[in-house]
Amino acid sequence: MVAKVHPSVPFAAPSSPVTGLASLSERCGACERCGLAAGRQQVVISRGEATARLMLIGEAPGAQEDGCGQPFVGRAGQLLDQLLAEAGLDSARDAYLCNVIKCRPPANRRPSGAEIAACRPWLEEQIAAVDPPLILLLGATALAGVLGVKQGLSRLRGQWMPWQGRWLMPLFHPSYLLRFPNEAEGSPRWLTRADLAAVHQRLNSMGLVHGRRPPPLAPVP
Ligand code: URA
Repeated sequence: MVAKVHPSVPFAAPSSPVTGLASLSERCGACERCGLAAGRQQVVISRGEATARLMLIGEAPGAQEDGCGQPFVGRAGQLLDQLLAEAGLDSARDAYLCNVIKCRPPANRRPSGAEIAACRPWLEEQIAAVDPPLILLLGATALAGVLGVKQGLSRLRGQWMPWQGRWLMPLFHPSYLLRFPNEAEGSPRWLTRADLAAVHQRLNSMGLVHGRRPPPLAPVP
């Protein structure tokens, strides 16, 4: 049954990812929950499509991301975009990209457990707002930050894991792939291409390639 809404009341669907994320951006942009706030230029929240059915979660912003306020815009991000494109996925249209940590750690060090814990509510809010059926965890920090799993990525990458009504897949981090440019069969890049092909296939089988979350129902006059 569709609830009747008085026409003079602005209709803000609670399920709208755009509405939820706009509010999150404002609050997260002023966050001082951990010491990283003192050294940042910008809070780096997300890029991509808020209604995409695929979310990618990385580690933390680097210098370029800190400067421009968007995740995955440096060399690692460019490689990620290229690998997604090779798999038939457009990072601007088909994916929502974010990080476990929204502020740049000094000298690009790994975020601490306390920083990850402080930032976790923002990530949870992003996941709830976008509500993606598929999530890719890029690298060991995302794997540990989301699932609490400290195992090596080599063992877990490419495997779908059920989590809170969604499917998660760990993948090599694109910065790791930059350090290992070998393209031979069995190399990290080769494996990542195979993993992304499996992601595309799963989206396809769910009828979700280039899929969007349906818009909220219009109010009944
Ligand atoms: N840029 C990001 O935004 N996140 C990473 O994990 C690496 C580079």
